[in-house]
Amino acid sequence: MSTRLPTIITDQPIEAPTACAPYSVGDGITVLPAYLPVPGMGVLPANSFLIDGREPILVDTGPGGAEAGFREALAELVALDDLAWIWLTHTDPDHMGSLEWLLDHAPNAKLITTFLAVGKLGMTMPVPMDRLFWVNPGTSVEINGRLLEALRPPSFDAPETTAFYDHDSSTLFSADSFGALLQAPAADAGDIAIGDLADGMALWTSIDSPWLTHTDRQHFDHGVEQLRRLEAGRVLSSHLPPAEGLTDRLIDNLARVPGSMPWVGPDHAALEQMLTMVTA
Ligand SMILES: [Fe+2]
Ligand SMILES: [Fe+2]
Repeated sequence: MSTRLPTIITDQPIEAPTACAPYSVGDGITVLPAYLPVPGMGVLPANSFLIDGREPILVDTGPGGAEAGFREALAELVALDDLAWIWLTHTDPDHMGSLEWLLDHAPNAKLITTFLAVGKLGMTMPVPMDRLFWVNPGTSVEINGRLLEALRPPSFDAPETTAFYDHDSSTLFSADSFGALLQAPAADAGDIAIGDLADGMALWTSIDSPWLTHTDRQHFDHGVEQLRRLEAGRVLSSHLPPAEGLTDRLIDNLARVPGSMPWVGPDHAALEQMLTMVTA
């Protein structure tokens, strides 16, 4: 199942949304990595994924701000006419940077999403109803002989979020869940120091899913029981480098968030201080 991952993803500083070179994680799955700068806090991965097969599946469509690099990378992996499916985990801008463009340029691609997501999409772009395929958490779809089970991940920032588990490759595509703020890009979550990974995940989750901080810990543990039982060998989060053999550790890291202090963003005094520095 395992594949040798690259050691360096980019040696450039991340000063704007940046698409990096794709790489395989094995089992016919390629990561299309991108990074977003988070001033004063580090960088946030913003991955999309391509699942090979007779009917290629793109999972999310790159972040806004890195459209050119994302589209160039995707075009090297698959002919757009051949792209059969786009699985949109949710409608945040870091997941749908090239969605409208792809619906135009990949005319055979159907959009796997939810009723609620379509309602939200319809406020900003045309949604071709005859190209939709709706899934709800708890239901499954079989594509390329892979059984893809839709599920609600243990943390999320949009109610339509639909992650999925690929039973064929033992891979959890977890959407925003299990993300981490990092000090620098990395190709493999296993390369990140254990403490940095735990802290980066706790911080990101508190920002992305603040409701989890006031969730009861026992309730959280009960909620992730089913996820633990899947025994996913690989987690592909939108916001974490690929994680192989780390699933229990990732769940344990997330379990630090219930009962913790919610993150609070910089206030207006901080903004005035920043503006002073910029204009000095
Ligand atoms: Fe999100
Ligand atoms: Fe996201």
